[in-house]
Amino acid sequence: MTLVFVLLAEVLIFVPSIARFRADFLLEKLKQAQIAALVQLASDEMISPELEAELLRNAEVFNVVLRRDEVRQLVLSSPVPKPIEDDFDLRTAGPWALIKDAIKVMITPEDRIIRVIGNPVQEGGQLIEVTLSTKPLRKAMLAYASRILGISVLISAVTAVLLFLAVQRLMVGPIRRVVRHMQLYAEAPEDARRVIAPSTHVVELRQAEEALASMQTQLTGALKQKERLAQLGGAVARISHDLRNILTSAQLFADRIEGSADPAVAKAAPKLLGSITRAVNLCEATLAFGKAEEPPPRLTRFAFADLAAEVTEAEGLAGEGMVTCLIDCTPGLTIWADREQLFRVLSNLIRNARQAIEATGAPGTIEIGAGEDATEWRIRVGDTGPGLPVKAREHLFAAFQGGARKGGTGLGLAIAAELVRGHGGRLELVRSDSDGTEFAIHLPRGGLAEAG
Ligand SMILES: Nc1ncnc2c1ncn2[C@@H]1O[C@H](COP(=O)(O)OP(=O)(O)OP(=O)(O)O)[C@@H](O)[C@H]1O
Ligand SMILES: [Mg+2]
Repeated sequence: MTLVFVLLAEVLIFVPSIARFRADFLLEKLKQAQIAALVQLASDEMISPELEAELLRNAEVFNVVLRRDEVRQLVLSSPVPKPIEDDFDLRTAGPWALIKDAIKVMITPEDRIIRVIGNPVQEGGQLIEVTLSTKPLRKAMLAYASRILGISVLISAVTAVLLFLAVQRLMVGPIRRVVRHMQLYAEAPEDARRVIAPSTHVVELRQAEEALASMQTQLTGALKQKERLAQLGGAVARISHDLRNILTSAQLFADRIEGSADPAVAKAAPKLLGSITRAVNLCEATLAFGKAEEPPPRLTRFAFADLAAEVTEAEGLAGEGMVTCLIDCTPGLTIWADREQLFRVLSNLIRNARQAIEATGAPGTIEIGAGEDATEWRIRVGDTGPGLPVKAREHLFAAFQGGARKGGTGLGLAIAAELVRGHGGRLELVRSDSDGTEFAIHLPRGGLAEAG
């Protein structure tokens, strides 16, 4: 590539320089002819025809006309072998004309007779005109061209080799090193020894190396932390599992002491049972969350109103009570989703709402609404509760972190959000203030959903 580029640049230089060469050559000829003519003028008598021929031969021209004043003077002449084919006036020729004429000489191999007009040197007259053959001119031009070409090839070859070595040393080598490091690091990203140590001197590559090093350091750190968390997760799961089994046995015994003859024991039994039940629930929730992922949704089409009624009944909202439940959905609305998972999502939201209302001690309402448009189904769960506590709002949908309710695990919303995400949808908080809270579930209808 370097070779080609340098040659291209040389061509750009070559064309004007060959034109210049031709103009210089012709000027030189005019000068020689002028000297020859001056020899003639120097002698008062006519010079001998042999001397005249010799003067013209030396100047490599056929005729010389030197005009010293208004009278045109034919000074030297010899027979012209062919008619004159072209006239060149060097006094007026611009750069383009010179280039054009030079190219013409180069591409016309046959010998032509031309007339060249120019200014005599040293103000030795008004005009000088010579007739000459293009053969010597062309020969000199070709020799000059081949010289330039040879030098160009040499320059470009040397440049190419130097550039190639420089690129290899400054760019290709360091890039290869970075790539090698990346591959090595990818094999064992936990190994901190494989993090690249920046060493290049080229600024941009150095920056790339430094960025890579910092990324690798962060990644290695994150992986280590993740590994520790995974180990911790595994331990928590095992503990939860065994703890749940122990607590389940405890539940059985607590069941029995409810019927104790001792009134104090019998009185404490329901509280004990409630505590154990909560502990079992916590263990089960932890275990469920520990299963890294929910299974992919098994989509079916079902009537939304039925599902909503089922959930409210399961949550104990069907009858009269402190919390009233209103279902407001488009009549006959059917949804294409995993019914079981959507049941869990809704029951989590409704349970939270019920618990929030109950905690205030005042009656309240939960409203479930559903509708559809061309792109999605939208399900709303709103309540007239006290709104989300700050802690819950700051860690919304984050497992174990948002729980602000006594006895809650802080998993409900995280699980609900994950299940909705599994459907390609999203769970969002629409509003939460002292008048209540509203969540919205968006389920997309795209592609697969419509197939059913
Ligand atoms: N509708 C709501 N109104 C007021 N606060 C709410 C509402 N929904 C959730 N919250 C708050 O957000 C917190 C997080 O809810 P989330 O369901 O994730 O966990 P949790 O209810 O505490 O525990 P669980 O895992 O048993 O559901 C709750 O503790 C509660 O304080
Ligand atoms: Mg909850």
